[in-house]
Amino acid sequence: MEQISYQIKPRIDKIELPQKLGFGAIFTDHIFEMDYNPRKGWHNFAIKPVERLSIHPAAMFIHYGQSIFEGLKAFRTINNETVIFRPEKHLARMNNSAKRLCMPQIDEAFVLEALKELISIEQDWIPTNSGESLYIRPIMFGTDEMLGVHPSKSYKFIIMLSPVGAYYPEGFKPVKILMQDEYVRAVRKGIGEAKTSGNYSASLLATEIANQLGYTQVLWLDGVEQKYLEEVGTMNIFVEFENEIATPKLTGSILPGVTRASIIQLLRDKNYTINERLISVDEVIEAYDNGKLKGVFGTGTAAIISPVAEVTFKEKKMILNNGEASKLAVELFNEITEIQKGSVPDKFGWITKVVSEVSV
Ligand code: COI
Repeated sequence: MEQISYQIKPRIDKIELPQKLGFGAIFTDHIFEMDYNPRKGWHNFAIKPVERLSIHPAAMFIHYGQSIFEGLKAFRTINNETVIFRPEKHLARMNNSAKRLCMPQIDEAFVLEALKELISIEQDWIPTNSGESLYIRPIMFGTDEMLGVHPSKSYKFIIMLSPVGAYYPEGFKPVKILMQDEYVRAVRKGIGEAKTSGNYSASLLATEIANQLGYTQVLWLDGVEQKYLEEVGTMNIFVEFENEIATPKLTGSILPGVTRASIIQLLRDKNYTINERLISVDEVIEAYDNGKLKGVFGTGTAAIISPVAEVTFKEKKMILNNGEASKLAVELFNEITEIQKGSVPDKFGWITKVVSEVSV
């Protein structure tokens, strides 16, 4: 395979990160980039300074949405090591998204090595405060200059990095979410389980409306009957019933979250009853009315664990735990962030160390 070319910008100033990082507004100096065409396969492997792209207005992804992405995180551990959380799972999911959108497969092992290289070059950008990390955003999009509707033949793949804090302005404070049946995000057998831009544009209007009403996010219901819980705009959802924790099962319209899978594994390991199943709006309301709804929380790479203080459906406003995070949500947040920060052993093998093999 072709080698990665390196063009590294000399660092003049010390990196000064703001006190409050927020999410996705600051970018590191370098990206990894590669191109695809059917003749050469993936080629032009480069780690280079971030630059603006020059894109023809007919580039296919702009018109027909052939664009996928991933979101994963790197951390500086308490032992000063640089680690990535479950990168293999994320790259495998990216290939599933690529397959669904007729895009080429990436070589997951090679891209992981390239990612490690990029991160080792950008190590100084990794924030170290609690709840902070280096967010990794791989993207792939179709670049053919062509207006006919068919899969692009050429593609660009980029990995960019962004030092981030909490995704929601609330931080770890509980968020308020709105269940609504006016709009749907995805339908089964559609593209809901792919991490593709279209699913996010489908979520914008309802989310704007929810925001105007004072809610942080929309809790999407199934696309056919609007009877069953699916996922929240940027995270999967877990419901704590009296004798069971449940999360919507993966029916094809829900994103198969890596944090979701990790939390299911953590809960099983702690001997909780955790079921992946259909969860109806009616049973959530009934459990609430009977005092059997113990908590709700979301999981996601960006959101980590986000406790939910209020869920509203039409006139029914459900205030959970007096507006506080549930004990379980706090426990799970602590456990997953401790694994990521290396303060407890990585007994599930979720951590990949970044050790640079190339000196540039
Ligand atoms: C993530 O959790 O990484 C996401 O992709 C959610 C969002 C920021 C789009």
